[in-house]
Amino acid sequence: MKTLRTLCLAVLLFLGLALTVSAQEKTIKVLAIGNSFSMDAVEQNLHELGEADGVNIIIGDMYIGGCSLERHFNNSVNNTADYQYCKISADGKKTYTQNVTLETALADEQWDIVTFQQASHYSGQIETYEPYLKGLLKYVKARVPAGTKFFWHQTWAYAPNVVHDGFANYGCSQKTMYDAIMKVSKKICAKYKFSVIPVGTAVQNLRGSYVEENVTRDGFHLNHTVGRYIAACTWYEAITGRTVIGNSYVTPFVFHDQEVAAQACAHAAIQNPFSTSDLGLTRPAPNYDEAMVPEFTLPDALTMQNGEKVTSPEQWFNQRRPELYALFEKEMFGRAPGKPSEMHFKLLKQTPDALGGKATFKEVGIYFNKEESQYIRLLVIVPNNVQGPVPTFLGINFAGNMGVTLEECVTEPERAEYSRFGRYTPYVRGTNERRWPLEDILSRGYGLATFSRDDVDPDWDDSFTNGVHKLFYKDGKSHPEADEWGTIAAWAWGMSRALDYLQTDPDIDATKVISIGHSRLGKTALWAGASDQRFAMVVSNDSGCGGTAISRRAVGETLEVINNAFPHWFCGNFKKYIRNENALPFDQHELLALIAPRPLCVASATEDLWADPTGEKMASDEAEKVYEFLGYKDRVDYHVREGGHDIVAFDWKFYMDMADKYLKSDQAK
Ligand code: GCU
Repeated sequence: MKTLRTLCLAVLLFLGLALTVSAQEKTIKVLAIGNSFSMDAVEQNLHELGEADGVNIIIGDMYIGGCSLERHFNNSVNNTADYQYCKISADGKKTYTQNVTLETALADEQWDIVTFQQASHYSGQIETYEPYLKGLLKYVKARVPAGTKFFWHQTWAYAPNVVHDGFANYGCSQKTMYDAIMKVSKKICAKYKFSVIPVGTAVQNLRGSYVEENVTRDGFHLNHTVGRYIAACTWYEAITGRTVIGNSYVTPFVFHDQEVAAQACAHAAIQNPFSTSDLGLTRPAPNYDEAMVPEFTLPDALTMQNGEKVTSPEQWFNQRRPELYALFEKEMFGRAPGKPSEMHFKLLKQTPDALGGKATFKEVGIYFNKEESQYIRLLVIVPNNVQGPVPTFLGINFAGNMGVTLEECVTEPERAEYSRFGRYTPYVRGTNERRWPLEDILSRGYGLATFSRDDVDPDWDDSFTNGVHKLFYKDGKSHPEADEWGTIAAWAWGMSRALDYLQTDPDIDATKVISIGHSRLGKTALWAGASDQRFAMVVSNDSGCGGTAISRRAVGETLEVINNAFPHWFCGNFKKYIRNENALPFDQHELLALIAPRPLCVASATEDLWADPTGEKMASDEAEKVYEFLGYKDRVDYHVREGGHDIVAFDWKFYMDMADKYLKSDQAK
């Protein structure tokens, strides 16, 4: 597979060089008559790609949100001053002018190229084009130099779970939408002799690569990282005739693998604009063969970075632990802010006689700001037959609070509430019930608190526009820095905010709150436990790569795969370790050691090879050595269940036994 990929890139590089040789250095002036899709494509990266390649690009973007050809045409007829005009001048300076007419923008420069496009949801519907495009083109032609060329900006298909009414035009199918856009853009280009800027195909090529669906921020707009970058790459090649492959412009927050894929996919789209190309840029096949595990030396948890041995528990707690924690924070998860000053809680709903009278269900709003635009809806469930505050498991859920139980009293979010997450998959009541054996939990005297990961940060690479991150941007920033929090750190931060609330709830014994999670949320439970020592115990179920599996083994999921498939989970710095695990200043056993001396449960499943059960066991054994060094025996419990990737009552029994042993008998103190 690797060889195939190298071969593909070599061929592309050759084609690219062939173009470069014949290209002339010059200034190109391009005006887009568009909407938010042209904003995604030209208002960043494009000028910079040119600069890095000796081409000066002057850019104008006439923007009205969602603007269709019909509206552009009407604006031309009525000379309506409705546009935001973004201008990027020769020196790269960007200015925005409001209330501009098409006439003004067309007269602003001697444009070499003017581009047209249709509103994305109409792009594949030919009946929405005329007579508007014809009229608009006539209007433009009368106002630009005779030599001006006209290009068609091909829009892209939506993500499968987009919240956009226009997706229904294509039966809510990405493939149908893509095919329709291709058919129509081909027709339009032929009819008007437009050159095409095939961003729709470039994006679709990218989706077929290891970048997968990590292209849009809300299912239709491109994300600020690789999404916008590939659009600019496509524009660059289309308007300059020069290759983008190997272009040295490094865009912030787009990492090397993404850059390589985006350049190759844009380039292929230029060669083949109306259908996708298979570039062989797929995920490398996983290794499950012990004989193929690379040689490595595990970093010793009990040796300081300067090579000094840790000789006492005090030295661990005062020096080595803080040092290790800081490394994980800086290089893997990213630094999170503290408690927001405007945070407040509200009891939203209380059902005292749920589950046939066995439990009280509460839903609590944990609001992060005064405006209450961002909040966790925490579901708190406590047994009714127990006197006094109860020890409680706190874990994030995958499928919404209503997915945890069939109990009707749990609120179903309204569509508007989903919309704040952007893309969505509607929750289904009780869908994950088997993962939360409520009756067992309650009958053993435990409470359960849970919330949806969407509340803190929806789980896709939206370039950190839709979760809690935006509440904390300072100094004009709009993206976390390379050492600042990714999504897992944000979820863990959300766990701490939920614990802040639990400390105020008289039904909960907040000194006995257990951080629990499965899979990606098991990675999260670990980081929550490492960063917040108020958690009395930690449970990491089938957490695999980036959780309890040793990264250096590279069995099953690797750092290459996880960072490309989930670029948002870890911080920017973590990308340095792709195919470079030996450079890591730690490995995952040391993350587990950060939990010490609090009880820790780790679980694997026999068929969950993707998570590397052997690596998970190795990490827990290694972590146990630190516990023993600190004087605590039997506080790391590892079990492996027959079966696949899941968390079920069988696993919970281990967790509750461990909690009974340590939390119910005050030994944890
Ligand atoms: C994917 C991912 C894993 C993750 C899992 C999950 O399989 O590769 O890293 O643990 O999803 O969260 O279910």
